[in-house]
Amino acid sequence: MSNQLIVALSKGRILDETLPLLADAGITPIEDIRKSRKLLFDTNLPDVKFVVIRATDVPTYVQLGAADLGVAGKDVLLEHGAEGLYEPLDLDIARCKLMTAGVTGKQPTLARRRVATKFVNIARRYYAEQGIQAEVIKLYGAMELAPLMNLADEIVDIVDTGNTLRANGMEPRELIAPISTRLVANKAAMTMKHARIKPLLARLERAVAERK
Ligand code: ADP
Ligand code: PRP
Ligand code: MG
Repeated sequence: MSNQLIVALSKGRILDETLPLLADAGITPIEDIRKSRKLLFDTNLPDVKFVVIRATDVPTYVQLGAADLGVAGKDVLLEHGAEGLYEPLDLDIARCKLMTAGVTGKQPTLARRRVATKFVNIARRYYAEQGIQAEVIKLYGAMELAPLMNLADEIVDIVDTGNTLRANGMEPRELIAPISTRLVANKAAMTMKHARIKPLLARLERAVAERK
């Protein structure tokens, strides 16, 4: 293991909230990440680098030790599974809810339900726990369209304001889990690089606490 600390950041909507938080903790990239086509960035700290990758790839990088730390939504972590990962800090950004939803006023029948989602593992687990037979259909986006097009009876998706559901004639139903963005750490790095990770974690903890 090198002395470098690699931090895997999720690109997309949580990057915009992650960078100010990291800046509050005293870590800033040397160049503007959003204006660059690069994927690996130096920071003001000589031993810390950022990699900017798809949110769903962050757990894989951290689990396999290609990155020491990572920033990812709890939804992504629940879907991926937490093996090989520690989750030392709730960064308290991108708060939303993972919910089931369906066409407004149209109650699902008790028979086998078709559920469209990109969170297939979460959905299978949830419906099994509820004792509901579900056929889970994998989609990669625009889940809110599936019931409208008669592809599914329900969806499992992220809900924040509920605007996307309402705009498509749907209503939220059951809460599966409250979601926020988490700092994750590779288990081996947490031991081997503890001396370096600990102060960084403390600075991030302080930055999160100062916002409350
Ligand atoms: P994707 O391209 O996979 O949809 P996003 O960049 O949109 O990724 O979302 C990244 C993370 O932000 C999600 O994993 C989730 O934790 C959170 N998130 C997604 N949608 C919302 C929302 N509408 N409001 C708040 N947080 C959200
Ligand atoms: C996310 C999520 C929902 C929506 C929920 O989509 O997948 O569709 O936000 O937010 P709301 O309850 O406030 O409407 P996003 O905007 O990330 O679009 P995407 O399909 O590109 O992921
Ligand atoms: Mg999205």
